[in-house]
Amino acid sequence: MSLLFEPLRLRDLTVTNRAWLAPMCQYSAVDGVPNEWHLVHLGARAAGGFGLLLAEATAVVPEGRISPQDVGLWDDVQVAAWRRITEFVHEQGALVGVQLAHAGRKASTYRPWSPVQGSVPAAEGGWPTLGPTGLAFPGYAAPAAMTPEQVAAVPEQFAAAAGRAHAAGFDVVELHAAHGYLLHQFLSPLTNQRTDGYGGTPGNRARLLIETADAVRAAWPDGKPLFVRVSATDWTTGGLEPDDVAAVAKELGAHGVDLVDVSTGGLVPAEVPAAPGYQVPHARRVRQLSGLVVAAVGLVTSAEQAEQVLVDGAADAVLLGRPALRDPHWPLRAARELGDAVAWPPQYQRGAWR
Ligand SMILES: Cc1cc2nc3c(=O)[nH]c(=O)nc-3n(C[C@H](O)[C@H](O)[C@H](O)COP(=O)(O)O)c2cc1C
Repeated sequence: MSLLFEPLRLRDLTVTNRAWLAPMCQYSAVDGVPNEWHLVHLGARAAGGFGLLLAEATAVVPEGRISPQDVGLWDDVQVAAWRRITEFVHEQGALVGVQLAHAGRKASTYRPWSPVQGSVPAAEGGWPTLGPTGLAFPGYAAPAAMTPEQVAAVPEQFAAAAGRAHAAGFDVVELHAAHGYLLHQFLSPLTNQRTDGYGGTPGNRARLLIETADAVRAAWPDGKPLFVRVSATDWTTGGLEPDDVAAVAKELGAHGVDLVDVSTGGLVPAEVPAAPGYQVPHARRVRQLSGLVVAAVGLVTSAEQAEQVLVDGAADAVLLGRPALRDPHWPLRAARELGDAVAWPPQYQRGAWR
């Protein structure tokens, strides 16, 4: 039996394997409501054998959307639409989490395949953005520096969305504190130049994330796991480094976070040395220093490579993004390559690789 197809227990949940679907924005919703596209995207991959699927960055408030087409969890219409999807995923024997997000200064942008890029103007459905300070992401409109009241509202916004995530049937909540979105903007000295209790020292910069984790943990059932996605490095001098982020991860563990999902970058434009498994050493470092359960992600493409990440002790689970866009049945194929017998959906049994 490979490690990739060994179950993983987190609180009251047992995930059937360690090949998980990475959160991937589909930029295909209207008013934050997931639709047939999201059902098919997640449903196909649940049937394809992923043990846990993380639904895309899901805005906790409308102004926290990356693009006007992002999904959300700020109202009950969205809860009902998500419920249909979580039920289908559960019928396939998989679990499903939601990545709760606020894009901060990177909100209100055109989706990637739009012929124009940058900030969406109000006339086209855009909105004014918020950030820890008024510094703009290069090429985007400048955000307004958040008032103390606006900062204080954030943990409650995430907690309210977590309550709705539970009502929608999600098994896991992941806080998006990576890729240059709001919680990451507060964490990094490059984007947080506040002079109040939420800026300056590492402890102050981590305060909003810790308070958000506390608020979400209180609103999210004890038996359900809480994940946080971090960027282990900003890939820029003066930015966050893996050991800084590992220290935050360790503290998150003391605040009820069960797993850290280790990505990198996204805060500021930077040269990223992308190569096979390039973020795995960061996952290993965070795992070593924090003692937490860790997921690795990024250019892990083959079954053998994913298995090696686990055998090496760099991570406890592997998230697949683009490989899962190319092959929704990546885990079923991987099981065959590793010599593991896994259940196929009965409807597809005649196509099983034996
Ligand atoms: C289409 C697309 C959408 C993405 N959306 C998100 C997202 O919503 N949240 C997030 O944390 N990462 C997002 N990512 C990053 C992936 O989760 C993953 O970390 C990245 O693609 C590297 O893994 P891979 O090499 O397996 O694709 C996205 C990636 C892609 C390709």
